[in-house]
Amino acid sequence: MSARDGWALVTGASSGIGESFARLLAARGRNVILVARSEEMLQKLRGELTSRHGVRAEVAACDLSAPGAAGQLAKTLGSRGLRPVELLINNAGSGARGEFHALPLDGQEAMLRLNIQSLVELTYLLLPQMVEARRGGIVNVSSLTSFQPVPYAALYAASKAFVTSFSLGLAEELRPSGIPVVTLCPGGTRTNFVTIGQPPSARRFPGGRQDPDEVAALGLRQLERGGGLVVPRLVNKATVFAQRFLPLELVPRLAAKLQKP
Ligand SMILES: NC(=O)c1ccc[n+]([C@@H]2O[C@H](COP(=O)([O-])OP(=O)(O)OC[C@H]3O[C@@H](n4cnc5c(N)ncnc54)[C@H](OP(=O)(O)O)[C@@H]3O)[C@@H](O)[C@H]2O)c1
Repeated sequence: MSARDGWALVTGASSGIGESFARLLAARGRNVILVARSEEMLQKLRGELTSRHGVRAEVAACDLSAPGAAGQLAKTLGSRGLRPVELLINNAGSGARGEFHALPLDGQEAMLRLNIQSLVELTYLLLPQMVEARRGGIVNVSSLTSFQPVPYAALYAASKAFVTSFSLGLAEELRPSGIPVVTLCPGGTRTNFVTIGQPPSARRFPGGRQDPDEVAALGLRQLERGGGLVVPRLVNKATVFAQRFLPLELVPRLAAKLQKP
């Protein structure tokens, strides 16, 4: 991606991996649209990116777990003249940890709308312009958990399994159009990642806690290489590879021992 005139839209840009994406893109001269709920944090980042890198940065604060939010966001982009979006970073996400039946259903449904529905809708709404221009790219931030069922984070892992499957399928569909799709599957990363039902101090990171800048940089590198699947860190790659040889039901049984709250 060499174009500097189109917009890059980053969801979940107020912290963690999304903030790293926004910073790296602005440093490369990209104009960025920053999306998350925390408007104040986004405005602060906007000011910093414009003054440091001389790019345009715009804030579009919204709750992507609200029904219809992605459609509303796409409309806002149109009315504010923030088109075309040439690079879509679908990064915003939340988690849920604990016994599925014991966690509040409304919170879990909001997670599904954020992790799945708004990602799908934003992609659906912004992709046609990329295909028509034969120019653009998408990064979908999935997770290492997308490769295996995870007891006590069953719905979160299932939501990320959706993201990985959807992204890899879409990538092949878009190959003839020259629109690269990156499926980024980080393991434990040092961010503010919020999981319903768990204090942050209680989290376990099997692959260690990676720097979010590193994760975002790997995603952008893969985008420049024409898209594909990224599983950061050797230990995570090895885990994904090894579990292919185990019976499908055995992996969650082993994971349950590690994950039980
Ligand atoms: N950290 C990890 O260990 C890890 C591992 C694998 C995958 N991931 C994935 O990486 C992605 C980024 O997470 P992160 O680790 O960088 O966590 P993070 O620091 O908590 O960032 C999450 C971002 O998403 C935004 N967000 C959350 N709920 C939102 C909503 N309802 N509407 C709009 N924006 C919302 C947050 O901003 P506001 O709160 O301001 O809305 C924040 O900017 C997620 O998709 C996550 O599943 C993380």
